[in-house]
Amino acid sequence: MEFPVTRMRRLRKDQNIRNILTETKLNPEDFIYPIFINEALEDGNKEEIKTMPGQFRFSINDAVTYLKELESIGLSSVILFGMPEIKDEKGSMAYHKNGVIQQTIRKLKAETDLVVITDVCLCEYTSHGHCGIIKDGEVLNDPTLNYLSKVALSHAEAGADIVAPSDMMDGRVASIRKVLDLNGYQDTIIMSYSAKYASAFYAPFREAVCSTPSFGDRKTYQMNPANSQEALREVKLDIAEGADMIIVKPAMPYMDIIREVKDEFKMPTVAYQVSGEYSMIMAGIENGYLTQDSIYESLLSIKRSGADLIISYFAPEFLEGKI
Ligand code: PBG
Ligand code: ZN
Repeated sequence: MEFPVTRMRRLRKDQNIRNILTETKLNPEDFIYPIFINEALEDGNKEEIKTMPGQFRFSINDAVTYLKELESIGLSSVILFGMPEIKDEKGSMAYHKNGVIQQTIRKLKAETDLVVITDVCLCEYTSHGHCGIIKDGEVLNDPTLNYLSKVALSHAEAGADIVAPSDMMDGRVASIRKVLDLNGYQDTIIMSYSAKYASAFYAPFREAVCSTPSFGDRKTYQMNPANSQEALREVKLDIAEGADMIIVKPAMPYMDIIREVKDEFKMPTVAYQVSGEYSMIMAGIENGYLTQDSIYESLLSIKRSGADLIISYFAPEFLEGKI
């Protein structure tokens, strides 16, 4: 045979051909933007996070102003992370009616049409930095469930559309669902961090919100990075307990998990491109090792692997048309 019968390169010939044959496309509504709100900050004094260039800690008012700007260029949803002024053993400010997140939710619901998602955990609010209640150096499972449910309820009361438990305690979805239902919040959505790995890629985030555990690590509750079958069990359990949406986290080092979870359960599946993924790409760009194009490719590949939605610090870059 003189010529190849099929020439794949015909379909890549020019930009117009490539455009109409593109299988995966990113849309503004694919993005959930994670934002940090620090109760102690004064308005007009946003703080750049050293480990996450281009990301900031905001006061409540400044966060709302920034999110309104992003909404005007197409942002549809946000996930909130709070930094309280006071931390204690039990993380009480996490479920206080006038806590930093509760205030932010109320303001966002009053002033924007954004879908408001909240991270439900204790680690940013506890003096020891763990995601649960501690006794004798151990993170207790069952006593933690009450606290997480209180946090979720306080977010629902403030008007959150979606609560996202990120603690990895057993039974938390069932516990939160029950408390929400009993209090009249049957329609509050639970987006569970079902497959959340004990990952080194959270380091910049912990620096950002000062939630590094003061002793030990999170390996007794977050998942072993070596395991994929266990992720499917986690997801299955969370669905049985009432989870409406599933998060896989981190994203890029766990794309096999995103694909398997999506194929197996057909649930709305969310991938969290975490702080370390953001920071390593930014570091590459800032040092001239990578180009700006690597951002788009990273996001596209997460969507291609099966994610319906992507939680990403790059959301503003995408919406601003910079990538
Ligand atoms: C809280 C929480 C963490 C992240 C999201 N929710 C940190 C952790 O589990 O230590 C990480 C997010 C990121 O790295 O961007 N449990
Ligand atoms: Zn936590």
